[in-house]
Amino acid sequence: MVLRSETGEVEGVTLTKSICSIWDQVWNFQARPDDLLIATYAKAGTTWTQETVDMIQQNGDVEKCRRATIAKRHPFLEWLTMKHPTGLELAEAMPSPRTIKTHLPVQLVPPSFWKQNCKVIYVARNAKDNLVSYYHFHRMNKALPDPGTWEEFIEKFMTGKVLWGSWYDHVKGWWKAKDKHRILYLFYEDMKENPEQEIQKILKFLEKDVNQEVLNKIVHNTSFEIMKENPMANYTREFQAIMDHSISPFMRKGAVGDWKNHFTVAQNKKFDEDYKKKMADTSLVFRTEL
Ligand code: A3P
Repeated sequence: MVLRSETGEVEGVTLTKSICSIWDQVWNFQARPDDLLIATYAKAGTTWTQETVDMIQQNGDVEKCRRATIAKRHPFLEWLTMKHPTGLELAEAMPSPRTIKTHLPVQLVPPSFWKQNCKVIYVARNAKDNLVSYYHFHRMNKALPDPGTWEEFIEKFMTGKVLWGSWYDHVKGWWKAKDKHRILYLFYEDMKENPEQEIQKILKFLEKDVNQEVLNKIVHNTSFEIMKENPMANYTREFQAIMDHSISPFMRKGAVGDWKNHFTVAQNKKFDEDYKKKMADTSLVFRTEL
């Protein structure tokens, strides 16, 4: 049986107790100049971006991308769960160039990443779809705290009392940081609307070039339909003791606007009013439908 995580805080940001217990090690992580960091708020399209980046790095070679599960290809910096090597261990053992995943808000990113001037790809997803996805993920992933009811989870999300803290602070913090560091800031909704265009942005950012045939292959193999069936990307190959895909599959819907199937009119109104206040101090604009 897996016990759901207890939570703690680092500088006011909610994290699992186990992450808090190794926080010094996370903070002192030694980035290398050629590390690429993929940073997201949880459920914003991390895995999708990871697969896209790997397809680019492997020049569209599907077999190479299936060399290992996504969790092994890209260490999850701050993460640790029972019986699995920690993200730090995986990262330290990995030869360069490494691609590393994190959900940390920008102020908690280990300073060595900035010192080494590492490139970062940040992906943001509109709050409502992000929240829906996070709710279902808590239901199926027993390593996360119990989400409570949908109504309760909305409240937790709005107050930022969820793992990796406030979505609002996360997207705003990274948005500000992009003017100071080498950060490519992408949106889930754009990736969904025009994957080829967004892949082109990543190619440019990574200073890579591929021909049209390879580009088509990348678009195809990173589509929701293909990734859903890819055991090396859909999390069915490991974490079986933690994730129960029969409750809600990791590759759940992969859509923009699914929030409409979850929010009541009253919940939506309350959420929107609160959102306006929390997002009044940013130029960041999200689309909640396509
Ligand atoms: P849903 O729960 O809305 O379906 P993360 O990788 O950050 O945990 O995000 C998971 C979310 O991204 C899930 O959202 C998942 O279905 C979606 N996703 C994964 N791969 C995708 C793809 N290729 N295209 C669109 N959405 C994808």
